[in-house]
Amino acid sequence: TFVVGENCINCKHTDCVEVCPVDCFYEGPNFLVIHPDECIDCALCEPECPVDAIFAEDELPDDQKDFLELNADLAEKWPNITQMKPPLEDAEKWNGVAGKIEHLVK
Ligand code: SF4
Ligand code: F3S
Repeated sequence: TFVVGENCINCKHTDCVEVCPVDCFYEGPNFLVIHPDECIDCALCEPECPVDAIFAEDELPDDQKDFLELNADLAEKWPNITQMKPPLEDAEKWNGVAGKIEHLVK
C-alpha cells in the first residue's frame, strides 16, 4: 500500500485524490489518508503530491513508520474524497515543518 506521511498535515493539497483509480483517499480536517485495504499500489498518487508526502509502505522514512497504522485507522473514520479542492490556507508555510504530527486534527 501507499501511505500519506507527515508533510501532508496542514498542507492538504489534494492533487493526489484526482489520480487514484480506486478512490481510496479519506479526508480529515488537516490531513488525508489512504485506505490500505483499497489501495492497489498503482503509484500514480506519489508524484502528484507537491510536498512529497506520499510513500510506498516499504519506503516510509524510519521516523514515519507509525503513519501506516494511522492511515489504516483514520481511513475507517473519515469520509471519502475524490475531487481536488484548494489547499489549506497556510500550506506553503507548513511545508517541511518538523513535528507536524502534534498538529494533526482527528
Ligand atoms: Fe490510489 Fe494508486 Fe495512490 Fe494507491 S497508489 S492511493 S491506488 S493512486
Ligand atoms: Fe496531502 Fe499531498 Fe495529497 S499534501 S492531500 S498527500 S497532494
